[in-house]
Amino acid sequence: MLVKIQKQRIRKGMFIESVACPSREFARRRFILASDKDLAAILATSATEVSINIALGLDENGAQSRAGSQAAPHAEPQRAQAVRGEIDQAAITLRANLREIVGAGTLDMAGLSRAADDNARTWSDSAVIALEVTRLKTKDETTYVHSLAVSGMMTLLARALELDDETTGLLGVAGMLHDIGKLLIPNEILTKPGALTDAEREIIRNHPEAGYQLLKTYPEIPQVALDICRLHHEVLDGSGYPLGLKQKDLSATVRLSTVCDVFEALTSVRPYKRPWTSTEALDWMFARPHLFDRKMVIRLGSVLVDAPIV
Ligand SMILES: [Fe+2]
Repeated sequence: MLVKIQKQRIRKGMFIESVACPSREFARRRFILASDKDLAAILATSATEVSINIALGLDENGAQSRAGSQAAPHAEPQRAQAVRGEIDQAAITLRANLREIVGAGTLDMAGLSRAADDNARTWSDSAVIALEVTRLKTKDETTYVHSLAVSGMMTLLARALELDDETTGLLGVAGMLHDIGKLLIPNEILTKPGALTDAEREIIRNHPEAGYQLLKTYPEIPQVALDICRLHHEVLDGSGYPLGLKQKDLSATVRLSTVCDVFEALTSVRPYKRPWTSTEALDWMFARPHLFDRKMVIRLGSVLVDAPIV
């Protein structure tokens, strides 16, 4: 439930939907206000009003709202809200990075590596909370939050498989970049609510190849990220796309990326389906060894069950 308040009334613990500054000097949206730094930054803007969501944080009087507690009797604990804020912020940063790569032809590989590291740390802190948070992603952030989630899961799974640090770091970056080809697809197709035409479906199915062709123009992109971008929709029996490769031609890192990508998609909110629980998604994938590497599925399950999964 959204409420507009004078900016002087904001308090830590409120969930900030948006800050109405005319010159857009504070673009961050949808996060729990948790630090004095953010509080001061909002107060310093030219905004007069701030929009808060009292179902997700403190109300306009700084109290836990009745509306919020009624609307969400099992409201996320504070830690989950903080993780959501971190993920929202990371999605904004990733969006800027990827848009720059697509639009202006520049690539800050060191920046992407740092972002992947930070993201992995969020996931290490609490994979289960982060997983829950990504299920709440808003539609317009879908590709970015999905990429962050896949990056985080790939890092966790790489660690669980005891891959070396360098490979693990590269996989984190590869996860962030794996769907960059989607940014080349017109929005009308990418977010079309109804059924796709054959031609539109073909355009979507081309995103791995389109992303690969884009990324390979950058010499600094490691081969593992190129492979994952191009091959993350391939499956073991050769029925995937775009190349229809079979198991023997799919590296362990590509198989790892496919498992994380599919798991994340299944457990996410989509306009056309409810989010599957972690258990449902893992069971579904486990029952399809002709498509997915079972060892990876089992390991991913073990990574995500430090706390009970639902
Ligand atoms: Fe994809």
